[in-house]
Amino acid sequence: MTDMKDRVAIVTGGVKGIGLACVKRLLAAGAQGVVIADIDEDRGQSCLKELGEDSVLFQKTNVGDLQQCQSLVQATVDRWGRVDILVNSAGSVGEKGPMTSHSPEALDHIWKVNVLGTYFTCQACHPHMKDQGYGRIVNIASIAGKEGNPGLVPYSMTKAAVIGFTKAFSKEVAEEGILVNSVAPAVIETEILDGVSDDVISYMVSKIPMGRVGQPEEVAELVLFLASEQLSFSTGFCYDISGGRATY
Ligand SMILES: NC(=O)c1ccc[n+]([C@@H]2O[C@H](COP(=O)([O-])OP(=O)(O)OC[C@H]3O[C@@H](n4cnc5c(N)ncnc54)[C@H](O)[C@@H]3O)[C@@H](O)[C@H]2O)c1
Repeated sequence: MTDMKDRVAIVTGGVKGIGLACVKRLLAAGAQGVVIADIDEDRGQSCLKELGEDSVLFQKTNVGDLQQCQSLVQATVDRWGRVDILVNSAGSVGEKGPMTSHSPEALDHIWKVNVLGTYFTCQACHPHMKDQGYGRIVNIASIAGKEGNPGLVPYSMTKAAVIGFTKAFSKEVAEEGILVNSVAPAVIETEILDGVSDDVISYMVSKIPMGRVGQPEEVAELVLFLASEQLSFSTGFCYDISGGRATY
């Protein structure tokens, strides 16, 4: 059994979907405290009601803003004195459609949320994890970042960047007790799919040998292991959770 006793975690995008499943899994494994960071204040308050305020804090955060990420980490340290785990699940699919159709503003937005959001939260957590000599970071990338999905070029581009960021950053901190990995889910049943056309979803599911979508709880199980002390000799890797779609 993975034991998260005394561990303090930040989960971005934690009010729903994969992020919320990770929050619940970390709490079930005994985490001392989990800070949910999200732009959605209403859902954040609902999570507090559902999960209770003893072990959960909600901090409204736009991860694309470095100062807000620094305030998020400070709020975590103020409440529990440390930050052991960072799960970067905040993300956006962004604009869909052919590559030629996307505006600079839309590209700027998705880059800020998916890439700089991951970068900034890691930047803000790093000094604390370094002082502790311990940290586990899990960045939620996507199979789109490994293989590329037509109709989702901006999204695929940002998720490839998250995988590259994870590989490079992990090597910088490999001797500091901080392990940084990413995961690459294929289609997972969450609200993020609401705006994606049936054609694109059918294309993605047709590529999955298991022939079905995944559930957020299945991703959370993998994230839990990668966020745990049991993970001790693996960093910079992109773990597959794609029902067999990924061949590498
Ligand atoms: N669901 C899938 O099929 C799938 C597949 C592969 C990867 N992913 C990735 O997994 C992660 C979670 O996806 P999900 O399916 O749970 O999506 P979701 O839409 O259910 O949750 C995403 C969360 O991110 C939050 N968010 C968006 N922009 C933000 C910002 N600027 N600052 C802070 N929070 C912000 C949203 O409010 C939301 O709560 C994303 O990074 C997504 O790209 C999802």
